[in-house]
Amino acid sequence: MNSTDKKQSERIVIVPSLLSADFAYLERDIKKVEEAGCRDLHLDVMDGHFVPNITIGPVVAKAIRRVSRSFLTAHLMIEDPERYIGAFKESGMDQIIIHQEIEADFVEVLAAIKKAGMAAGVSIRPQTPVKTIVPGVELLDSILIMSVEPGFGGQEYIPGSEAKVADARQLLERHGRVIPIGVDGGINIKTAPIVARAGATRLIAGSAVFKGDVPRNIASLRESALHAVSGR
Ligand code: DX5
Ligand code: ZN
Repeated sequence: MNSTDKKQSERIVIVPSLLSADFAYLERDIKKVEEAGCRDLHLDVMDGHFVPNITIGPVVAKAIRRVSRSFLTAHLMIEDPERYIGAFKESGMDQIIIHQEIEADFVEVLAAIKKAGMAAGVSIRPQTPVKTIVPGVELLDSILIMSVEPGFGGQEYIPGSEAKVADARQLLERHGRVIPIGVDGGINIKTAPIVARAGATRLIAGSAVFKGDVPRNIASLRESALHAVSGR
């Protein structure tokens, strides 16, 4: 393992996506992943417009904050994220990730998120090239590569998404930025190694975490990703 790989393996984190938790037992499921060592949780916010599905909003995010001290990221798959920055700040989110594809200028929205005192990230859909995020690169605290079409949990990883992780890594290197690259969608013990090898350090996983034995699932995901990075 060379020093770059070593550093990367130290930074690889499994981030449970609560979309696949049991919403009738959210606190129980949050405790399960936290007891398994996760301190970084992902909340999928969908409005039925930007994506076809509707999920949770600031009210549920605030309830989650009450039962968790983890770093909470709201992944906003909504048409007008700027309108809700205050509400998500108020609900106790640590980071907001918006989409590059929104109608508004995403760079202005990133600036507004930072001004509100939260970390700011940008996500891109499978068809959106990585270079579209360049205008916002100085403001970013993280990048999120979608490896499925956003909207639903439980979809299959789109093969080749790892190339975008590698593109993002190069882009960050060119700009001298050191921030996490996350991948969201279809992450499991087969795909985690692929994206980790390409340079992802935040592996967002819903079904692969919550289906079956949660602690065992998290341990297997972590092992598969670390093995891929250390085994080069
Ligand atoms: C999809 C969401 C994901 C989703 C991932 O639009 O952004 O966070 O929960 O679910 P899995 O891991 O089941 O693909
Ligand atoms: Zn998500």
